[in-house]
Amino acid sequence: MSSSSLILFYSFTLLPVLICSVSINILAAKQGFSATFDCEHHTGSHSDSNNEANPPTPQLQQAYIVLQAWKNAVQSDPGKFLSNWVGPDVCSYKGVYCAPAPYNETLQVVAGIDFNNASLTGTVPDELGLLSDLALIHLNSNGFSGVLPTSLSNLNLLYELDLSNNHFSGPFPSVILSLPALHYLDLRFNEFQGPVPPQLFTKGLDAIILNDNNFTGSLPPALNGNSPSAIILANNNFGGCLPPSIANFANSLDELLFSNYKFSGCNLLGFLKQRNGENREEEDEEQSA
Ligand SMILES: *[C@@H]1O[C@H](CO)[C@@H](O)[C@H](O)[C@H]1NC(C)=O
Ligand SMILES: *[C@@H]1O[C@H](CO)[C@@H](O)[C@H](O)[C@H]1NC(C)=O
Ligand SMILES: *[C@@H]1O[C@H](CO)[C@@H](O)[C@H](O)[C@H]1NC(C)=O
Repeated sequence: MSSSSLILFYSFTLLPVLICSVSINILAAKQGFSATFDCEHHTGSHSDSNNEANPPTPQLQQAYIVLQAWKNAVQSDPGKFLSNWVGPDVCSYKGVYCAPAPYNETLQVVAGIDFNNASLTGTVPDELGLLSDLALIHLNSNGFSGVLPTSLSNLNLLYELDLSNNHFSGPFPSVILSLPALHYLDLRFNEFQGPVPPQLFTKGLDAIILNDNNFTGSLPPALNGNSPSAIILANNNFGGCLPPSIANFANSLDELLFSNYKFSGCNLLGFLKQRNGENREEEDEEQSA
């Protein structure tokens, strides 16, 4: 499956970052990566190739402008996470990961931004859409708020978007639907509300994690397309029945959590029987509890 396309795009330093993140565990398991990969030395410092200053290519010059704009959009940084975000060598900035561009391997570009657990507050600036080589954005466990800029539609290589545990709000950010390379979406623990567009479920994502928001409406009546490994919808305000077609996903889903989903009047039993190969009645009880 296409989960490995990132490795084709970006052969190198981003991979350890991916494996380090808690959020990637589902994909990592699927790809057979070792979950015990030692990430310590990758997170604090950068790869050896970045120790010498990177030549100021147009891409890195633009990244400088974007990242300084983001620094300005940060309202508080109690842990001084951004304290080394000074000067043109953006590849040495904490939380910024450079890699050879997929289209020119002698060209260093900004391929990942990882602010996991940095306690930053503020917003995501429109300028972020200019970092068109980004494959990974991890903002897990910060205090970011506001809405996602529509300029993110320029991020044609974006593979993982983790906004979990922030204060993002507003309707489902439909710009996400326009990201052609996206495989992993984690919006859990934010303040998004309103319906989730049906296209999200047929877009070929590996993981769709939406729990603990205030999404409403029901899932689309027909699901098809590429199967996600994980769909997690718990603790929202979804209503209605599970679509019968979700059984199409049954054999490939590793993780499907619908707790607090309102199942009244639905044929849940039929779904679970299909999913579990007829034999797992104890789980029926669990799920309908
Ligand atoms: C690749 O990038 C290098 C460094 O910027 C540049 O000198 C070279 O012309 C580029 N090659 C192509 C094919 O664009
Ligand atoms: C996040 O940071 C806090 C302190 O800032 C720390 O106590 C906690 O262990 C960190 N969590 C992770 C998952 O790194
Ligand atoms: C969730 O949305 C519903 C309907 O719009 C609203 O009544 C409710 O207050 C919201 N809950 C939270 C926690 O925002």
